[in-house]
Amino acid sequence: HGTMKVNEQGHLEIGGCDTVQLATDFGTPLIVYDVRLIRQRARSFIDTFKKAGVKAQVAYASKAFSSIAMLQLANEEGLSLDVVSGGELYTAIKANYPVEKIHFHGNNKSIEEMEMALDHNVGCFVVDNFYELNILHDLATQKRKKVNILLRVTPGIEAHTHDYILTGQEDSKFGFDLTSGQADQALKLANSLSNYNVLGLHCHIGSQIFETTGFKLAIQKIFTHIKKWKTQLSYEPSVVNVGGGFGIRYTESDKPLQPEEYVNAIIHEVKTHVNENNLTMPEIWIEPGRSLVGDAGTTIYRIGSSKEIPGIRKYVAVDGGMSDNIRPALYQAKYDAIVANKANDKKEDLVSIAGKACESGDMLIWDLPITKTEPGDILAVFCTGAYGYSMASNYNRLPRPAVVFVEKGKAKLVIRRETYEDLIKLDFPLFEVIKQD
Ligand code: LLP
Repeated sequence: HGTMKVNEQGHLEIGGCDTVQLATDFGTPLIVYDVRLIRQRARSFIDTFKKAGVKAQVAYASKAFSSIAMLQLANEEGLSLDVVSGGELYTAIKANYPVEKIHFHGNNKSIEEMEMALDHNVGCFVVDNFYELNILHDLATQKRKKVNILLRVTPGIEAHTHDYILTGQEDSKFGFDLTSGQADQALKLANSLSNYNVLGLHCHIGSQIFETTGFKLAIQKIFTHIKKWKTQLSYEPSVVNVGGGFGIRYTESDKPLQPEEYVNAIIHEVKTHVNENNLTMPEIWIEPGRSLVGDAGTTIYRIGSSKEIPGIRKYVAVDGGMSDNIRPALYQAKYDAIVANKANDKKEDLVSIAGKACESGDMLIWDLPITKTEPGDILAVFCTGAYGYSMASNYNRLPRPAVVFVEKGKAKLVIRRETYEDLIKLDFPLFEVIKQD
């Protein structure tokens, strides 16, 4: 997918760069991002709204992968930005992200984080709960600032892949519940607070979603309330944000829709309710993370040891694992991979790919059909661009990998590999250390 191909030497190439060469130049494990594919995805989301003549913001959910270079790319492509912490906001500020395009999320923003976001004049706060609703307003008043807010509501729809769950009153740590009247109360309060400009509503129903049903149901539920608010409170939102969650294809069995299909379904559902009830067409905001960067990322590992248990299984170990990709261990997430230096060879073997961490659960892929491998081969694991690096850890004091962006035959190092020195840089000795390198 994307700009991937197999070159004349039978090596996997991404963005015009030979991944085997990248492994030599930058070391392994290495996360390689196909910049063209990220651009294409951003453009499909944005252009679909444009074609439909619908005012929109497409915000990149930077929790999927945040770095200065990534945010510069997101900005270059005209995306807005969803940040969920002081750290993500700091990265955005350092990347010189236009502050008016930053949306600040989170169910427990600290006072320091709220002040930081206020001082930087972020475009909007997605307010999650009554505590925040009150405190943020106090802070805004002290600073004599008028703040744009969205109220995060829980529509009682939880979606994941093909499943969506309808619950009456949603049992979730996020947002104001619609069913119980909490959202009505929050809206009345927010509208009564003079330093708030209540732009509208936000909801997020889940992640890695393959169907449009969940989005439609959530929009339906929200509009039932919007109708009511129009008559009872004379309030109509100017923004409806339906969150992220659009699925990607990790393996053959995943069958996601195209960005255009998700967006068109969302637009259609919103327009239907607007027209039926004679409402003002709101701007539609979305906040994809995974679908912008997930399949643009490929992790390049070097193969080391292996172990065969006759008649049972063959384990092949790589030089990374759960420290750079926790998703298989945490969610039983499935991935596909090939041997990058033998990309044309027949897949005659069946092996399970193990990480190098001291934990039995550190397995990246079970029972992968693969070509015969030997130590020193390069393994390319696909679709690791979302929630891989961003959830990486230093477990076993493994340094975090380097990240490169590839495009048009050029590779650019955007995050350098951690060094052993980095690993101890926060340590204070208990007594004077005399050991020199
Ligand atoms: N907006 C909100 C409010 C969210 O909570 C999330 C993700 C997104 C947008 C972006 O969702 P996406 O388009 O990436 O699905 N660590 C998990 C995923 C956690 C998602 C949390 N929220 C994983 O690795 O699968």
